[in-house]
Amino acid sequence: GLGSINIPVYVHIVLPDANAVSNQQISAQIAVLNDDFNTKNTNQLPSGATDFINDVTTTDIHFTLAGTYRYDDPKSSWGTNDAVKAAYPPTTPETHLNIWVCNIGEGILGYAQFPGGNLATDGIVLLHESLPGGKAAPYNEGRTATHEVGHYLNLRHIWGDGRCRQDDFVEDTPSAGGANYGCPTYPSVSCQTPDMTMNYMDYTDDACMYMFTDGQTNRMRAIFTDGGSRASMLG
Ligand code: ARG
Ligand code: ZN
Ligand code: CA
Repeated sequence: GLGSINIPVYVHIVLPDANAVSNQQISAQIAVLNDDFNTKNTNQLPSGATDFINDVTTTDIHFTLAGTYRYDDPKSSWGTNDAVKAAYPPTTPETHLNIWVCNIGEGILGYAQFPGGNLATDGIVLLHESLPGGKAAPYNEGRTATHEVGHYLNLRHIWGDGRCRQDDFVEDTPSAGGANYGCPTYPSVSCQTPDMTMNYMDYTDDACMYMFTDGQTNRMRAIFTDGGSRASMLG
């Protein structure tokens, strides 16, 4: 097998005052990624969700901060059309995860590029206030990054972006009829079986997200194997 996978990370802070996001927030964000991808998130499964206990899986994917760039830029809303990446290009995206932190606008918390896309736009974009200690409650504990890195590593939303028969290509995530929000109690049923509302690839509150599954772990790790779309990251 591949063993532990380490992903070095460049962070680009693009804000009118780029010091508005502190080094402490950036290291807290990297720590949340490491916790969430390695079953160290201190959230808990909702009471009664014993069906899901055995599905909670460590990915053994780790993140290390390689550098931070700060750009003072007066633009107040960057949208989701990759304008921020064109203005501030990624650094060695073939080997590094690039994270842009900015004001996206339109109520958007973050967006990501799936593997196999254009290297010039590869990476994830996060609303600055979604980082730990930011103001985007209940989405200010750093789990927007966890969710977006899930997409960056090939995961779909657990409802497959469709109704009950639309797949997320992962066997052990139960099908769901749509996104869940807030902090649902268990069971929350949309397609006959309980939804995995606490999965990082749902839309619930940061305080109520808890897990990746075995199937999601396999799907993410597969892109690092020989011939996989992110195999180059392992040098
Ligand atoms: N809406 C965004 C997306 O689809 C991110 C959702 C993040 N959710 C959260 N609890 N932080 O990529
Ligand atoms: Zn998403
Ligand atoms: Ca599934």
